Amino acid sequence: MMEGKVVVVTGGTSGIGQVAAERLAAMGARVVLVARSQSRGEAAMTRLHEMGPKERHSVHYGDVSRLRDLNRLAGEIRSAEPRIDVLINNAGAAFSKRSVTEDGLELTFATNHLSYFVLTQGLLDALRPAGTARVVNTSSHAHYRARIDFEDLQMERNFQGFRAYGVTKLMNILFTRALAKRLAGSSITTNSLHPGFVNTRIGDEGSGFIAAAFRFAKNFAITPEKGAETIVYLASSDEVAQTSGLYFYKCQPMEPSKAAQDDAAAERLWRETAKLAGIHE
Ligand SMILES: NC(=O)c1ccc[n+]([C@@H]2O[C@H](COP(=O)([O-])OP(=O)(O)OC[C@H]3O[C@@H](n4cnc5c(N)ncnc54)[C@H](OP(=O)(O)O)[C@@H]3O)[C@@H](O)[C@H]2O)c1
Repeated sequence: MMEGKVVVVTGGTSGIGQVAAERLAAMGARVVLVARSQSRGEAAMTRLHEMGPKERHSVHYGDVSRLRDLNRLAGEIRSAEPRIDVLINNAGAAFSKRSVTEDGLELTFATNHLSYFVLTQGLLDALRPAGTARVVNTSSHAHYRARIDFEDLQMERNFQGFRAYGVTKLMNILFTRALAKRLAGSSITTNSLHPGFVNTRIGDEGSGFIAAAFRFAKNFAITPEKGAETIVYLASSDEVAQTSGLYFYKCQPMEPSKAAQDDAAAERLWRETAKLAGIHE
């Protein structure tokens, strides 16, 4: 079903992204990974070549929380892949303490939201030549209680790891909505999803309360194999070939929070993010 398709995946070296990449490779896709660690990237490549031995899968290295890496990655991937069928924005993390990237941006915001925005913008020219292309954005039910404070987008006041994580997952859905609006009538669709609560390495980078809470909750979590199902569905199923702008869970559309359906907030977030990323539209 995916033979001849090129699938770019961020966060494909671990957890649900890794399983999704391997499944899509087994379905015949050629996978292009974005990875930050050489050893994890090489291990992922070995598994991909076992799962999809016919294709020459590839990996590009970079840290998706850094603007210069994102811009370089987009350029490298565009040159290597003039046609991309599916982009899966999935790399994500949660942190217990506030820290700031070399661009002066809060790390959760940069990793979980800015990376989806910049990589998608940078790869649109390669997605357009595909007959039909898809952008799949991994979000989370953690968005349900989140609210964006546009006066404090970098969460300088009163940082809490879970709150920051939830806000960025809300941003993933708002980004998907605003992108779908811009892509309406084109050959590219975009949808977001919640994978379920999945036993992965998420939260391991944190310390203190956030790490302990993730560790405890993982006792009740589903496997990465189960968690990857909705990503694989959105990336490959004919049932959603024409569907755009929706939020999915268990391979079904689901209503996200009211805040995630706020088109004015989606547009404001788009403008603010473009400004921070130095993208002029
Ligand atoms: N697990 C859950 O219950 C759950 C629930 C809802 C949503 N999600 C979402 O699912 C997505 C995947 O998470 P996961 O649970 O599979 O966690 P995971 O096992 O920790 O995987 C995260 C992936 O993102 C990559 N990554 C993180 N920061 C990066 C950076 N700065 N630059 C490049 N790559 C980076 C990691 O690379 P390394 O291998 O180098 O670490 C890894 O491949 C995230 O967007 C998360 O928010 C997860």
